[in-house]
Amino acid sequence: MTKVKERTSMLDEVLHGLTGPQKSLPSKYFYDERGSRLFDEITELEEYYPTRTERNILEQNIEEIECHLGEEAILIEPGSGSSDKTRILLKGLNNIAGYIPIDISGDYLFSVASELQKAFPEITIQALQADYTHSIDLPDALPEGRKVVFFPGSTIGNFKRDTVDRFLNVVADIVGSNGAFLIGADLKKDIDVLLAAYNDSKGITAEFNKNILRHINRELGTDFNPDLFDHKAIWNEEESRIEMHLICREAHEVEVAGTTVSFRKGESIHTENSHKYTLAEFSEIVSPWFDVKKVWTDEKDWFSLQYLEPKQG
Ligand code: AVJ
Repeated sequence: MTKVKERTSMLDEVLHGLTGPQKSLPSKYFYDERGSRLFDEITELEEYYPTRTERNILEQNIEEIECHLGEEAILIEPGSGSSDKTRILLKGLNNIAGYIPIDISGDYLFSVASELQKAFPEITIQALQADYTHSIDLPDALPEGRKVVFFPGSTIGNFKRDTVDRFLNVVADIVGSNGAFLIGADLKKDIDVLLAAYNDSKGITAEFNKNILRHINRELGTDFNPDLFDHKAIWNEEESRIEMHLICREAHEVEVAGTTVSFRKGESIHTENSHKYTLAEFSEIVSPWFDVKKVWTDEKDWFSLQYLEPKQG
């Protein structure tokens, strides 16, 4: 079987994204320090419902969640960041033996992990610095327990279909036939609500979107001018997703490691997809690997927390 060559460096990915007919950049590059701070600000905006709603779902169903996770669980969280939502679980559940936060940014990961270890001395916490999209190598010495992957935030909605499949495969692989998957999935809803969540009135999402260019400038030494782009978020009905774009205000060129990239006035750089699901669509997507055993939602059915088990047989 031939394997498609993976673009591993930021430069490769950026050049690849900016040389096609529809320019694009990988949304993971929003998140340098400033981008993570801007995202935190987004989560506190009135218009941005997902974070608040998911936290409420976790808090209000904590006993049922505990029952589903079983006797002794080891929580594994890819892309753990601040582990903010996990704190609700670590605090509220009595059956967590271990917690393995996984993140690409090591310094932050290790400082969050050591802070959590102090707050929860009875839980074994083992931080793992890794890019979880390709594979996850768990530490050899794990505490006894059922492996449960926790993936909140509807981050899965950012992935393209082939990445979703690859990721589900990685998760199924690490939890094994005994494990489980607890995942947040944002639901389809009134389009005005969705558009407002990604076009907030304070312009924080616009700054977050443009930050991808600042991040790339710093890492690659390029000279993108964020002021030459406008933030735009649209609803793509066919693909059932919010798309974020940066729209070029005037024609100009940018050098990227010896390659000249030309921008036309009005041309877009597609920076993010955020898929919104119906419950039926989501269960269909995971179905090659997982059965949906339980779905918790809020009273408006805006967001879902789903408990999945590996397909048996
Ligand atoms: C955390 C990636 C799920 O798609 O809603 C927020 C990121 N983008 N506002 C999302 C985001 C614009 C967020 N995810």
